[in-house]
Parts: sequence; structure tokens; C-alpha cells
Amino acid sequence: MPEPVKPQRILITGGAGFIGVHTVNRLAAEGLELLVIDDRRHGCGEPLPSSVQLEKVDLNSTGAAEIVVRFRPDAIIHLAAQGGVSRSVRDPAGDAMVNVVATVALLRASVDAGCRRFIFASSGGAIYGRARRLPTPERTTPAPLSPYGAAKLAAEGYLGMFGRTFGLSTLALRYSNVYGPYQDGTGEAGVVAITCDRLLSGRPPEIRGDGQQTRDFVFVGDVAEANWRALQSLADGGINIGTGVGTSVRTVVEELARLAPQLERPHVAARWARSNLQELSGTGRAWVGARHRRASRSRSQTRSRIARRIGMRRAPDRTPATRG
Ligand SMILES: NC(=O)c1ccc[n+]([C@@H]2O[C@H](COP(=O)([O-])OP(=O)(O)OC[C@H]3O[C@@H](n4cnc5c(N)ncnc54)[C@H](O)[C@@H]3O)[C@@H](O)[C@H]2O)c1
Repeated sequence: MPEPVKPQRILITGGAGFIGVHTVNRLAAEGLELLVIDDRRHGCGEPLPSSVQLEKVDLNSTGAAEIVVRFRPDAIIHLAAQGGVSRSVRDPAGDAMVNVVATVALLRASVDAGCRRFIFASSGGAIYGRARRLPTPERTTPAPLSPYGAAKLAAEGYLGMFGRTFGLSTLALRYSNVYGPYQDGTGEAGVVAITCDRLLSGRPPEIRGDGQQTRDFVFVGDVAEANWRALQSLADGGINIGTGVGTSVRTVVEELARLAPQLERPHVAARWARSNLQELSGTGRAWVGARHRRASRSRSQTRSRIARRIGMRRAPDRTPATRG
């Protein structure tokens, strides 16, 4: 197996978004030459370091491929995506345009540009679906429940094909639930950011459903570190990026609420869950998320396979997040 080469010129798509800004800052600390492609449709508002070039372009435009070929990156981290699960249910074709078609166009452009390494932001929770086994190992047969998950899985399929056919070294990082500074607290998902937003604006926190549903929460700084380690490795296929620890939504909300003791106890919004479900499915029968999600720690923690494969050493940071 050839030795991994430390890449110098890195293209980051979606670099103005939540995970993108943390990743750009991590890579900028290495003194690398960085180009971000992001049309800022969902930028997190944090400025990028002045050394980083930004091209405000839609990845679905032909201009994007030209920029990639001109920059000739050694490696690409592809983070740009339509990230809304319920939006993907309302508009599966629109979701696929960004999450599949733009990804395929970018893979093609990276081959044309002579790029050697391609890292893709996939989603453990979205591709495994209602997995029986928790934590869920990577060998689990994917069974997405939403168009968003199906698109991530389809993109992983293209990554494998570009690896086999064009010799591009590719890796899908299957993030679990990422939290941390600059996350959008006004969206449909991201219970940590949503709760912090409510607390900071003086509103009582809210628990959707009974709150017993569990998620694997991973700190965004660890995800940025994983992106950087993945760039330097030759690992391929798909790897879970999570803690392997399931925490209930109720626990997270109550822990955060403890930081703002003057507010009332969290509201339980079971009706929200029901009506949202009906809106998502049109019938109220379909369900787009699994009740319990946890990435297997076998490949996501110290002494794990991921530690061996991409050299991740740091244990997950469990510091409560605040919005920056
Ligand atoms: N946040 C999570 O918990 C989580 C979990 C699993 C996977 N992911 C994946 O990680 C990646 C980053 O997620 P995030 O939370 O930082 O999302 P984000 O929405 O904050 O960032 C995405 C960025 O991509 C840009 N973008 C979207 N479509 C684009 C297009 N067509 N052309 C150019 N730019 C475009 C947006 O402007 C935004 O800045 C996504 O691929 C997402 O699916 C995130």
C-alpha cells in the first residue's frame, strides 16, 4: 500500500457552513492552501480566515467544475449539501440535485483536476435507518428512511465507483449528530443548538415527543479533526464518526436547561411530533427517522478501528456546547 502523502492544496465545499467553518479553521492551522466553494445559501455567518479563498458559486453550476479544475486540489472535503431531512421528503428531486447530482459532478471534476483524495460528509443516522444493533457498526446493511439518507447512500455508491474506475482515493465519513458553536438553532434539527437558542432568547426549552429517543452526539471540533486525519489517510469505504454513546434528547435538554435555572421545566411537545410527522409523510404513517441512533464505537473512538485507520487519538469532547 502506498504511503499517504500530506496534501497541500485543499478544496472544501460547504466551507462557510457549520462543520465547514470548523474544518477550514482546523486546516488553516496547518498552513495549507485552502479554497472554499460555497454559495452561502446556508452559511453559518462566521468569517473565514483571510488566507482562505472563497468562491461564492452553486455546485450545480458549470462554473463550479471550472473552478475545481483551475485550482487543481490535492484533496477535496465535500461538505456542501441540502441538509434538511423534512425538506428532502417534501422535495426529493431537489434534494437529489444537490446531494447526488452535484456530488457526481464534483467527483468528475476532481478526476479532471488530478485530485488524489476525496472525503465525503455522509450521515450515519440517515443511511442506517432503523438499525437493530446499537451502536450500529459500518457493516450494517444501509436502509435509509428518507430521501436525504437515500441520497447520501447513492453518493457513497458513486464514491466507490470513482475509486474503482478512476483510481480516486475516496472515503465517506458517516457523522452522527454533530453539535457545537455556530450551529443553526432555528432549523428543524440540532437539538443542542435549538435548545441553546431558546434558552438564550429567554424561551423555555422544548422536548419533542417523549424525549426518550436517543442520539449519538459528537462535538464539531472532533469532526473537524476527523476530516483532517481522513485527508491524510488512505482509508476507503465508510467510517462512522461518533462517540458510540447514546444520550436521550430529554437528558440533553434537561442538562442545558440546568444552565438557565430561572426558566421553566422543558415543555413536552408530543403534539408537535405528531403533526410534524403528518406533514412530512402526508399520511401520518411514514416515519423518516429512527428512534434510537448510535454509531458503533468500534470505528469511532480511541483504540478503535478508526483510530488505527486514520489515527484519531482524541476522546470525544463532552463539554456542553454554546452557540458562538
Ligand atoms: N450537522 C450534522 O449533524 C450532520 C450530520 C451528518 C452529516 N452531516 C453532513 O455534513 C455536511 C455539513 O453539514 P453542516 O451541518 O455543516 O451543514 P450546513 O448547512 O451548515 O453547511 C452546508 C454548507 O453548504 C453550502 N451549500 C449547500 N448547497 C450548496 C450548493 N449547491 N452549492 C454551494 N454551496 C452549497 C451551504 O451554503 C452551507 O454553507 C453536510 O453534507 C451534511 O449532510 C451533518
